[in-house]
Order: sequence, then C-alpha cells, then structure tokens
Amino acid sequence: MQTVEVTLDGRSYPIYIGERLLNQAELIARHLPQKRAALITDTTLAPLYLDKVVEGLQKAGVTVTQLIIPAGEQHKSWQSLNSVFDTLIRHRCERKTALIALGGGVIGDLTGFAAATYLRGVPFIQIPTTLLAQVDSSVGGKTAINHPRGKNMIGAFYQPLAVIADMSALSTLPAREISAGLAEIIKYGLIGDVEFFEWLDQNMEALVARDGTALAHAVKRSCENKAKVVAADEREETGERALLNFGHTFGHAIETGLGYGAWLHGEAVGAGMVIAARVSCAMGLLKQADVERIIKVVARAGLPVVAPDLGFEQYMSLMGIDKKVEGGKIRFILLRSIGTAFMTADVPQSALKQALAESTVNG
Ligand code: NAD
Ligand code: GLY
Repeated sequence: MQTVEVTLDGRSYPIYIGERLLNQAELIARHLPQKRAALITDTTLAPLYLDKVVEGLQKAGVTVTQLIIPAGEQHKSWQSLNSVFDTLIRHRCERKTALIALGGGVIGDLTGFAAATYLRGVPFIQIPTTLLAQVDSSVGGKTAINHPRGKNMIGAFYQPLAVIADMSALSTLPAREISAGLAEIIKYGLIGDVEFFEWLDQNMEALVARDGTALAHAVKRSCENKAKVVAADEREETGERALLNFGHTFGHAIETGLGYGAWLHGEAVGAGMVIAARVSCAMGLLKQADVERIIKVVARAGLPVVAPDLGFEQYMSLMGIDKKVEGGKIRFILLRSIGTAFMTADVPQSALKQALAESTVNG
C-alpha cells in the first residue's frame, strides 16, 4: 500500500492506494470517531462490494446504517440528497457518525455534500471505486449535486477524513469508465506535469488494458498532483485550483446540454480538452502540432475527440452557468504549451467559434 498525504492546516488526511483495501476494514475503522457509520453506495456497487465492506466493519465492532442510491449522474440530485438526509435522521445518526461514500464520483460528491450539511457537518470517508474517483473526485473536498441547468452548481468545500483507493475494485469497472478516468489523468499532464504527459503518451495502451503497474503509477502521480494543488489553493481562491477545470467548461456544457448521463463526465472532459486545446491554438498560444498530439492521446484513451454540435449560442449559454464566471464573464482554462495552463476571460469569440466548428460533429 502507498500513501499520499493531502496537507491542510489541521485537516490533513491520507490517500491510501493499494490492492484489496476493501478487505481491510481496519483502514476505515481507525478513522471513525465512533463505532457507528452510515455507508452510502449505488445500485451497481451494492451487489459487488457492499457486503464485504459492511461485514468487515461489523467484525471491527462498527454498526453500519446503509443506503443504496440508483446509479448514474442523473441521481446526483436534490432527491438523492434528501433520501440521504431521511436515512440519517430515521437512524438517528449523530455528529460523530461518519458517512462513508463507497462508489464513484457521483456517490462521493453526493455523500460529501450530505456530510458537509447534515447537523452542520459530520465526518466522512471516501472509498472511490472508479478510476475517475480515485484520481480526482475523492481528493480535495469538492462536494456537490447538479442543478438541472448547471453541473455541480450546489455544493461545499468539505474535506474527508481519509481516502481509501482499492485498485482491485477497478477489475469490475466497464472499459468505458476506465477511459472516463483517463480523461482526468491526462488533464494533470496537460495542465502542469509535462513529464507525466510524456509517460502517458508512452503508456496509454497499457493503461487502457488495465496493466496493474501502469494504473498504480497513474493513480499515485495523479493524487500527488491533485494534493499539491489542493494544499496550495483549497477553496479555488488564487486561480491555481481552477486549472484543474481544464476541459471542464466545455465538458460541463456537453453534459448539461445533452442531459446528465448521456455522456459520462470523463467523456465530456475528453472532448472538452480537445476544444480548449483548439481555442488555445486559435489564439496563437499552443502549437498546432501539440493540438494534434493531444487529440491522439485523448483518442487512444478511448475518449471522444469530436463534441456534439449543440450550436455556438447554446454552448455559450450553457457555459455562462459555471462556477468560474466572474463579473458576468466566462473564464476559460487554456494552454500555453503542454504542461502550462492559465485562466483567462479574455478569449475572442472568433477563437471560440473556430474551435467549436473544428471540434463538433457537423463542424
Ligand atoms: P459514477 O460515480 O457515476 O460511476 C460510474 C459508474 O460506474 C456508475 O454506474 C457506478 O455505479 C459504476 N461503478 C463504480 N465503481 C464501480 C466498480 N468498481 N465496478 C463496476 N462498476 C462501478 O461516475 P464517476 O466517473 O466515478 O464520477 C463522475 C462524477 O464525479 C461527476 O458527477 C463529476 O462531476 C464528479 N467529479 C467530481 C470531482 C470533484 O473534485 N469532486 C472531480 C471530478 C469529477
Ligand atoms: N476537479 C476539480 C477540482 O477538484 O478542483
């Protein structure tokens, strides 16, 4: 097992990365403030892993309240959040009853937001089971639900007590979900870790084939990258953390525009990174050869590089509902080179039009 530390004043926590960690209930139990917990998972995960985790916790003397939410992005909603609150209240969960999120980013974001708000805040633990959640969503304390008109528009910054990433759980993950996770992994290389991007370029086929050594390296390196950014700018105040949104401004527009769940989050980010790279190129910042290289790496990850043609006006309208909007202006994350990202509101409409035209189905 390897451990990456997220360093935050008084709220530092470990990310444990290793094989068969779901069998080690002690790893969870040691972080619980009381011998009670409420575990939230989804309908796909429950038959696969719920019994194993609950039985392990019970053997460690922990009483576990369970809730199973329907799987899928469309369930990262007020309705699901309310069902979490109903369960917590019905079982009289207390301020020291930790919530445990067992699942992908949907369960992690939803459970984290419930933890941030139930009784004005209760402890929580992330057990990410998708590649995407292991490399990104379980780390850093962004929690949220979706609004029908905008992704993640309602949420809180709220850090977990620990993150437990069991690499063995990835064996049951569909190939499409592995690709979705690779989108966020590629993002780290593009925004600030050129050496990692070079490694990804050399090892993409091994990652897609779920080579254990390659995946373990990619998860650890991604978590190290994310932990560094979160430690520097926990609440996205200096602009550093906003760089983690590379590809997401366009990606969120795709997800909202098509309806949550039509495209996976990672797929939308994949196509979104291609659009953002093209905008960077249209503005004379990024070389055309680098755009081509990015497109190839994203495609080799099994991700879409062509975005849906929602129309220019619709993209602009959807992107106008975004947490980065300031003074009414959409702020974009762009690249100066592979490994160097920055945020700007100063993007000519012509560059956006050109990039969207080149990137969309009918473009
Ligand atoms: P997800 O949670 O919907 O999981 C994907 C699917 O895989 C689900 O159907 C799930 O049931 C299934 N699944 C999960 N683990 C499995 C396993 N081990 N075996 C078989 N099936 C499994 O999606 P996701 O891609 O994990 O997360 C996407 C969400 O994360 C989005 O809502 C996105 O906004 C959010 N996100 C948040 C952050 C953050 O910083 N908080 C960062 C990135 C993404
Ligand atoms: N996934 C973006 C962030 O954590 O800031």
